[in-house]
Amino acid sequence: MRQKIVAGNWKMNTTLHEGLELAKAVEATSGSKTSDAIMIIAPPFTHLSKVSEVISDVKLASQNCASEEKGAYTGEVSPDMLLSAGVEYVIIGHSERRSYYNEDNQILNQKVKLCLSKGLKPIFCCGELLEEREAGKLFDVVRSQITEGLAGVSAEDMKQVVVAYEPVWAIGTGVTASPDQAQEMHKFIRDLLAEMYDGETADSTTLLYGGSCKPSNANELFANPDVDGGLIGGASLKAEDFIAIVNAY
Ligand code: PGA
Repeated sequence: MRQKIVAGNWKMNTTLHEGLELAKAVEATSGSKTSDAIMIIAPPFTHLSKVSEVISDVKLASQNCASEEKGAYTGEVSPDMLLSAGVEYVIIGHSERRSYYNEDNQILNQKVKLCLSKGLKPIFCCGELLEEREAGKLFDVVRSQITEGLAGVSAEDMKQVVVAYEPVWAIGTGVTASPDQAQEMHKFIRDLLAEMYDGETADSTTLLYGGSCKPSNANELFANPDVDGGLIGGASLKAEDFIAIVNAY
């Protein structure tokens, strides 16, 4: 059985104090979890080490990491630093990183491989722009993001990788992909992983949906056979909404 995951991407929100309160609230709700999904939160870098001290059932992710191991890279945060702060998962290639910070498939591939070599688990994001969908290029775009972003990652290492499909037009817009649109792309990604690796690897990879997922639509999205959970932005900033999404399974 594939691991179900619901991960909260806090983005650039909350002060340290607010973040600790939110993390404690999320941890407290985990006691009322009725699904077998793993709960992950991804607070800003500055909060990670303190947040790791107030969570136990809930797992910790960072929203990004450096592509280099150490040294003269001002402003970057390395995988070893993240590990020392209690981080287990790293979101890599979020569309905001791709579009605002020009992170391309090649640099993202470097990050994925570096994280894996350090024992961190990548949550690798992909997804098309609205104009790419409208031009019928959605599958080509996602195919290149995945084949280039995961190039050189072994089937063994794929056991540590989570893939998140986040159509860019659905992120933070209130417009969610329909359950059919989500399933169609998730099936495409699973078939692609089978082509790149093998059926077993494809079957065991957790595929998350992200983009305006909330308590009111999580259930119909998660009901799809190839949707194994969600990457949640806005709705992860309220503990009660986040647990409601987790319990939508
Ligand atoms: P959203 O963000 O849920 O606010 O649309 C999702 C994401 O960017 O991961």
